[in-house]
Amino acid sequence: MSGARPRVAIATCAELPDLDPDDRLVAPALARLGIEGVPVAWDDPGVDWDAFALVAVRNTWDYAGRRDAFLAWAASVPRIVNRPEVLRWSTDKRYLRDLERAGLPVVPTLVVEAGDPLPGALPDEVVVKPAIGVGSVDAGRHREHAEAEAHLAELHDAGRDALVQPFLPGVEERGETALLFFAGVFSHAIHKGPMLPEQGIVRPYGLFQPENISAREPTADERAVGEAVVAWLGERFGVLPYARIDVIPGPSAPVVLECELAEPSLFLGTSEGAADRYAAALAALL
Ligand SMILES: Nc1ncnc2c1ncn2[C@@H]1O[C@H](COP(=O)(O)OP(=O)(O)OP(=O)(O)O)[C@@H](O)[C@H]1O
Ligand SMILES: [Mg+2]
Repeated sequence: MSGARPRVAIATCAELPDLDPDDRLVAPALARLGIEGVPVAWDDPGVDWDAFALVAVRNTWDYAGRRDAFLAWAASVPRIVNRPEVLRWSTDKRYLRDLERAGLPVVPTLVVEAGDPLPGALPDEVVVKPAIGVGSVDAGRHREHAEAEAHLAELHDAGRDALVQPFLPGVEERGETALLFFAGVFSHAIHKGPMLPEQGIVRPYGLFQPENISAREPTADERAVGEAVVAWLGERFGVLPYARIDVIPGPSAPVVLECELAEPSLFLGTSEGAADRYAAALAALL
């Protein structure tokens, strides 16, 4: 091998070209392994992607409105992590149905495709959200059937398929627990406060909502759900360099709210050594 250090692109987006503070820890961690990490916007047409040994998807938070272009880009670069089929699977929350079919505990989820009506019988309080969405934007919580219907119509009018879920009230006390796994191994977890207003829809505030985050030791049950999902993902896709499994309290035990395998915040600054564990998972691919 020549003396040149391998280069890894740390993908961001033109709308938010600066890496998130947590992701600014990635390049120094890669450097400790003799790898050069370079932030690059995925939608910058001037980039020579062949110059990189690997593209690491990180802050590509603008894909929700143009997922097809994002996935086409992902398929076009020489080597990307997570792999394009993983990015495709995890950027449409319909995957919750796959997890459910596999017997994993998930938030009960109904998919309502553009044009289809809201079912007549619904839980007292529902969450309506886009199947393809990030940062809580356009998700909403409703007690009135008519409001849920109006929200659904708004998503459908914009050509977006929607998910309808019961609002699980345990999130108000316990919040959400995001479990981070690198190379299939548990790394750390964080607590995220509840994101939805008591009533109504989260409107865009940039590309994501401000979040209330802190380090958290998961309960044994939360961790077990994360481990079970990661094991299932490993069977389906092979061991994933990174995965974030978000769980919230269900009626009796934790349930999966999201399985983030594309551009999740990894909260690398909340746990000693997390950036190094992530960097090592990337380095293993070179
Ligand atoms: N069924 C539900 N019950 C209770 N709270 C919910 C439910 N669905 C979503 N929420 C709340 O809404 C937030 C956003 O929902 P979700 O994580 O599914 O969407 P998202 O847009 O992908 O968010 P992000 O990209 O920020 O993780 C969650 O963090 C959670 O606080
Ligand atoms: Mg989420």
